[in-house]
Amino acid sequence: MADLLLGQVLHFTGDPFVLGEAAAQHISDGAVLVEGGRIAAVGEASALKAAHPQATRHDYGRALISAGFVDAHVHYPQTAMIASWGKRLIDWLNDYTFPEEMRFADPAYAEDIAARYLDIVTAHGTTTVCSYATIHPASVDALFGAAQARGMRVYTGKTCMDRNAPPGLLDTAQSAYDDSKALLRKWHGVDRLSYVITPRFSPTSTPEQLAAMGQLWKEHPDCLMQTHLSEQTDEIQWVKELFPQSRDYLDTYETQGLLREGALYGHSIWLTEREKARLIEAGASLIHCPTSNTFIGSGLFDMGLARQLRVGLATDTGGGSSFSMLHTMAAAYEIAQLRGQALNPAQLWWLATQGSARALHAEDKIGNIAPGMEADLVVVDLASTFPIEQATRRAETLWQQIFPTIMMGDDRAIRATWIGGRPKG
Ligand code: GUN
Ligand code: ZN
Repeated sequence: MADLLLGQVLHFTGDPFVLGEAAAQHISDGAVLVEGGRIAAVGEASALKAAHPQATRHDYGRALISAGFVDAHVHYPQTAMIASWGKRLIDWLNDYTFPEEMRFADPAYAEDIAARYLDIVTAHGTTTVCSYATIHPASVDALFGAAQARGMRVYTGKTCMDRNAPPGLLDTAQSAYDDSKALLRKWHGVDRLSYVITPRFSPTSTPEQLAAMGQLWKEHPDCLMQTHLSEQTDEIQWVKELFPQSRDYLDTYETQGLLREGALYGHSIWLTEREKARLIEAGASLIHCPTSNTFIGSGLFDMGLARQLRVGLATDTGGGSSFSMLHTMAAAYEIAQLRGQALNPAQLWWLATQGSARALHAEDKIGNIAPGMEADLVVVDLASTFPIEQATRRAETLWQQIFPTIMMGDDRAIRATWIGGRPKG
């Protein structure tokens, strides 16, 4: 059975960092035909209605139908401690994050939070996440299990740490390798699930553990690898002390085989010229986490890099202060403004969908509306509250209609979320 979604359709035919707003295509009276979990056609409503009279119609009126949001860097185990007050990165990790992650030694707690987390994000229109788990293998099972039950395309991996964390949160180079490998074999490529090799960051991994992760990645080159890079200046200073031989922070990964295409570096704010050049040359992905960068007081990401390499957008739950990719787009806009860069709404929407999908090397599957793509969709009400509705009354263009929702919208703007061709219950 086919489904026909009717509304305003937004999709991309190019990269708005190259083409500007012309990279987006807007079909005012549009339709998306969904069949067998995939997008079968996109076009004018009149034409698709005539061609597919049997399809079940879902009329969303003037709401906007877009690819679902792709959140390229989150920590699902931090769901219950989001919005914890008053710390910067290292104290925030020690005082809030690590105690919460200890609770994941209990698989039942991990299952509870994984289900809670996916329910929250899908209510915010997010259809794919790339998450850190905790050091506990059962925390990976919990998120993959919950994603599998919902039919979601989800990325995660066991977070590896063998120093500078409480004893209950430490593995070793060998156990991190063994556990990661076993989880990878169990889950990678099953349904819509992908395993991500996940050393947390250089301060909590010895060079031996980073090398073990590099070795595992060499054995499984089709996996992604995620970690953190140059988020706060204190952290960078600490990395210098821990790795006196290294040229810079990136070098701690590079020398262990953890820099190439498929590497995802969260934050990447305080990069040196050498680091930027190497990241571009290697084809790495940078993941911008704007609400986190303001919330923990990290710094201002340089969105100019989006012209040179893959940049994804992310909430960084729970260092980030919101589960919403709309809030996250707004924060990205504000951070760019503080750097003298005005991101246009097409660039913001693209970052939250196709840009993040590209950062995850999944742009052939998710992040856009086109025939053959997986049918992960969000339907957005562009007048979800009175303050937003009144701000759109004089809108003459689609982007003027969308921008108030980007800046002021939240889960009330999400009319429907479709996952793998099915509306979320
Ligand atoms: N760096 C290492 N671990 C983390 C984390 O959990 N959150 C953030 N924001 N930065 C990190
Ligand atoms: Zn993170």
